[in-house]
Amino acid sequence: MSTSATITTSKGNLELPVHSGTVGPDVIDIRKLYGATDMFTYDPGFTSTASCESKITYIDGDQGVLLHRGYPIEQLAEHSNFMEVAYLLLRGELPSKDEYEKFVHTISRHTMVHEQLAMFYRGFRRDAHPMAIMCGVVGALSAFYHDSTDINDPYQRMVASHRMIAKIPTIAAMAYKYSVGQPFLYPDNSLSYTGNFMRMTFGVPAEPYVVDPIVEKAMDRIFILHADHEQNASTSTVRLAGSSGANPFACIAAGIACLWGPAHGGANEAALNMLREIGRPERIKEYVAKAKDKNDPFRLMGFGHRVYKNYDPRAKVMQKTAAEVLERLNVKDPIFDVARELEQIALSDDYFVEKKLYPNVDFYSGIILSAIGFPTTMFTVLFALALTVGWIAQRNEMIEDPNQKIGRPPHHYTGAAQRDYVPVEKR
Ligand code: CMC
Repeated sequence: MSTSATITTSKGNLELPVHSGTVGPDVIDIRKLYGATDMFTYDPGFTSTASCESKITYIDGDQGVLLHRGYPIEQLAEHSNFMEVAYLLLRGELPSKDEYEKFVHTISRHTMVHEQLAMFYRGFRRDAHPMAIMCGVVGALSAFYHDSTDINDPYQRMVASHRMIAKIPTIAAMAYKYSVGQPFLYPDNSLSYTGNFMRMTFGVPAEPYVVDPIVEKAMDRIFILHADHEQNASTSTVRLAGSSGANPFACIAAGIACLWGPAHGGANEAALNMLREIGRPERIKEYVAKAKDKNDPFRLMGFGHRVYKNYDPRAKVMQKTAAEVLERLNVKDPIFDVARELEQIALSDDYFVEKKLYPNVDFYSGIILSAIGFPTTMFTVLFALALTVGWIAQRNEMIEDPNQKIGRPPHHYTGAAQRDYVPVEKR
C-alpha cells in the first residue's frame, strides 16, 4: 500500500506522506507543500480536505453509515439514550452503570441558569426568532461562570462542558416561553434530561405536567440523531472559533449562528414549510419539476447532503419515529403522506438518482416536532440543543490535540495587484 503521494509542480516533484485512518479514505499530508513549492491547494467548501484528525464520528456517505466512537447510529437510537450518547461522545467509551449515574447526576446539578441571565431575554422583541435569542443568550454565558473559562485547565474544560450541556435545554425552553409570553419554568431534576426539557417547554406553573413516555423517547431519539455529525459547517465553526483560545461559551454561540442557516440546521424548518406549501399529493410533481429546473433556485428541502450519497441513516430512524409519534398522539397529518409520496417520487426520478439525492435527517424531523407541538421556529433550536454535545466533544478534542494550531486558511487571491492611491478629484 502506498504511503506517499508525489505531486509534480513547476519546481519539480514533491513526495508527500499519506496517512491511513482506522476506516475511510487515506489523507495526503500537504503541510509541507507551501514551504516546498510556494503553492497552496484550492478547495472551497473543503470538499477534498480533512480539516483535522478526529476519533469521534465516522461517516461513510456512499454506504449511508454513521458511527459514533464506532457504534452505529441505528443501534444507539434503538438501545441507548441521549445522556449515554453524550458521555460516549465526550469520553470515548460507553459508561459503566456507575459512571452513567454519576454523569447524569453531575449534569442535573447544573441545569439552572444564573438568575440574571433571565433578564437578557427581555432585551429581545417577543417576535424574535428563537435562534437569534439562542445566539445572544448562549454568547452571554461567557459573561458568567468565569471559574470555568481557562481552556488549558482540563478540570475547567470539564466543568464548562457539563455546564453547557446542562443549561442548553433550560436556555432553549426559556427562548420558547419568552416567544409565547408564558413564565419561565425552573428545571425539575427528578426528570430525565429530555423529560425535564419537555416540561420546561410545555409545562406551566399553574398545573402539573406529565411527560408522555413515548413522546419523551421520540424526543430523546431525535437528540441522539443530532448529537454529532463530524466536521459539518457549525462544528467546523466551533473548532475554528475555539482554535484561537476563545471563551468556550462564545464558541458554542458561534456554532449556533452557523447552524441557523437554511442549508444546515435551518433545513428542517424549511422542509416542513415546503411540505405544507405543497399541501397535497397532486402538487408533488409540480414541485419536483421546480427542483429540477436549472433556472429555478428552488430545491427540495430535506433532500441531498454534502456527505451522504445514499439514504441518510438518520432519516430512516426519523421516518419510523414519525409514524410512532403520529400514532401515539393520534395526529392525522396529511403532510406525512405528502412526505412519503414525495420521497418515493424523488427516489425514482432520474435527476435525483443521478445526483444521488436522498432524504436527509431533516426531511421527517419537522413532521414529528410539529406533531409534538413545537412551532417551526423552534426546530433549529432543538438541533442546536443536541449538537451542543458534539460541538463540545469536538472542541475539547481539538484543544487536546498536540498538532492543534489556530485555524487560518489561506485564500486564492484574484483581486487587484498593488496599485497607487488616487486622490478623489482625479477619479
Ligand atoms: N433539490 C434539488 N437539487 C439539488 C438538491 C435539492 N435538495 N440538492 C442538491 N441539488 C443539486 C444541485 O442543484 C446540484 O446540481 P448541479 O450539479 O446540476 O449544479 C447538485 O445537486 C449538487 O448540489 P450542491 O449544492 O453542489 O451539493 P452540496 O454538497 O454543496 O450541497 C446541500 C448539499 C445539503 C447544501 C444541498 O443538497 C441542499 O441544498 N439541500 C437542501 C437543503 C437541506 O436539506 N439541507 C440539510 C442538510 S442535512 C442537515 C445537516 O446535516 O446539516
